[in-house]
Amino acid sequence: MGLWSRRSMLAGLLSSPVLAVGCATDGARTPPPGAGTRGSAPAGEAPAGYRRLPIPPLAESRTENGVRWFTLDARPGRASILPDRTTPTWGYSQDILGPTLRARTGETVGVRVSNHLPEPTSVHWHGMHLPARFDGGPHQPIDPGAAWEPSWVIAQPAATLWYHPHPHGSTQLHTYRGLAGLFLVDDHTSDSTGLPNEYGVDDLPVIVQDKKLNPDGTLDERDDAGTGLIGPAVTANGITGAYAPVTSDRVRLRILNGSTMRIHNLGLDDNSEFEMVASDGGLLTAPTRLRRLQLTPGERAEIVVRMQAAQPRTLRSFPAPVPGRPGRGPSAGAAQSEEFEILLLSPRAQLRPGTATPARLAAIPSPVTTAAVARTFDLDGNTINGLPMDMNRIDVTATVDVPELWTVTNSHNRVHNFHVHDNHFQVLDVNGSPPPPELAGWKDTVAVPPSGSVRLAVVFRDYTDLQSPYMFHCHLMRHEDDGMMGQFLVVGQGQQAD
Ligand code: C2O
Ligand code: CU
Ligand code: CU
Repeated sequence: MGLWSRRSMLAGLLSSPVLAVGCATDGARTPPPGAGTRGSAPAGEAPAGYRRLPIPPLAESRTENGVRWFTLDARPGRASILPDRTTPTWGYSQDILGPTLRARTGETVGVRVSNHLPEPTSVHWHGMHLPARFDGGPHQPIDPGAAWEPSWVIAQPAATLWYHPHPHGSTQLHTYRGLAGLFLVDDHTSDSTGLPNEYGVDDLPVIVQDKKLNPDGTLDERDDAGTGLIGPAVTANGITGAYAPVTSDRVRLRILNGSTMRIHNLGLDDNSEFEMVASDGGLLTAPTRLRRLQLTPGERAEIVVRMQAAQPRTLRSFPAPVPGRPGRGPSAGAAQSEEFEILLLSPRAQLRPGTATPARLAAIPSPVTTAAVARTFDLDGNTINGLPMDMNRIDVTATVDVPELWTVTNSHNRVHNFHVHDNHFQVLDVNGSPPPPELAGWKDTVAVPPSGSVRLAVVFRDYTDLQSPYMFHCHLMRHEDDGMMGQFLVVGQGQQAD
C-alpha cells in the first residue's frame, strides 16, 4: 500500500465531524484495519468509509443556427477531495473537474469558454479532430475575464475524449488544480453495440488523478524532487475512497488517466478478467480480455466488468510488474511498490441482466505501412530531437492526406509517452513487436518504453493551416511543460509554410 493507506483515510474520515454528502451514514461501522473490501459492506448500500462516486453532469447545450453550443466557465472552487478536508481547487463550471460534453458524429458543436481564473489558461480538446486554430493549445490562451468560442464539426468515430488546459508551461499546474473533463462522442456503431450505455448508471465515467494535500487541505504544489506533481491521494472523479452502486451484471467504465505524472497498471482486486472495448480513439475491432491494463497520463480505455450480486469488486492500480520491460515500468517519481484502490463497485442483491459484448465492435482499416514520409522523434532530457519546445519554431510540416511513419524513440531510462494532436494514429510496433490488442485500435497517446521505441502510422486529414500549429509531446505534464514538446503544421498538397 502507498503512504496513504485506506486505514489512514478511514481514520481521517471518522475523526471528521461532518460526513460529506453521499457518504456512508453508518460512519461508526469501520471495516477491520487492513481488511479487504470484498464482503465488507452490505451489497449496494453505501459501504462504510466510502463516498459515492460523483458523476460529472452531462453538459447542457443550446442549438443556435445549427450549432450546438456548450458553456464552460474556468473558475476557482472548493472541493472535498479527502473526506476530512476542504481544498481550494479549480474547475470548469463546477468546483473541480468539469461537466461531460457529449455529441454525435456529424454534429456541429461550439463551446463558449470563459476564464474566471486569475491567470491565462486554454482549453484543449484532447483526441478531437478539428482545425488547429480551435485546438486550444498554447497558441489559443484565454486571458482572465476573456472568452473563447471554438466551433467545429465532429468528424470522427464514437470515443471517450477529454478536455484540459494547455497553457505554455503551466499545463501541469492547471490540470492538477482540477481542470479536466470528458467529451464523449457517439455514432451509429456505438449505438448498436449493446454495450452498457446508461450514463452514470451502468456506463460510468472514471477520471483518475492523484493529489498531494497539505494538512490544511490546500494542494501541495511543490515539486522539490523535480519529479512532477504526484501524490498519494489517488482519486476517481475528484474524490478518494469512491464507490459506485451497481444495478446490472455488466458495468462499462470509461477510464481516463487524467493524472499529471502517474502511470497506472489497472486491474480488479480479485485479478479476474475484464473486457476492454475501446481505446483513445474509439471502439476496438473486438473486445480483448485483460487482467491488467497500463494507462499512462492522457490515455483512455473503456472496459466492461462483469458483476455478480452481492460480490463487490474494486478497480485497483497495481505495482508495475517489471520495470524497464517493454510497455511497463514505474511512473516517474512513484515508487514501484505503490498500490491504490480507485473505485469500489458495489452491487445490489439483484442485478439486471445486461447484453453480452458482441464479438466484433468497430471496423478499423489496416494501417498504411509504406509511407512516403518517415520521421523520427527522440525523447530525452525534456527535449525532442535535442530541442526544447519553442512556440516560434515549427518542427514538422505535414501534408494533408499523405501517410507518414513516425518512429518515436526513448533514450531515457524512464517511461515517457507520446501524444499527437488532431488525428489518431495506429501503432505499428512496440520495440519491434506488433502491438498488443489494447494498443491495436486508434490511439492518440502511447507509452514509449525506456530505451525503447514505437512506430506509428500517422495521417492528417481535412484541415490545413499555414499559421496555426498542432502539438506533439510527452503527456507526462511536467515533461511537456519543461519542453518535451514540438509543433507541426498540416498544409495542403504543394503548399509551403512560410
Ligand atoms: Cu492532452 Cu497536447 O494534450
Ligand atoms: Cu491533445
Ligand atoms: Cu515524459
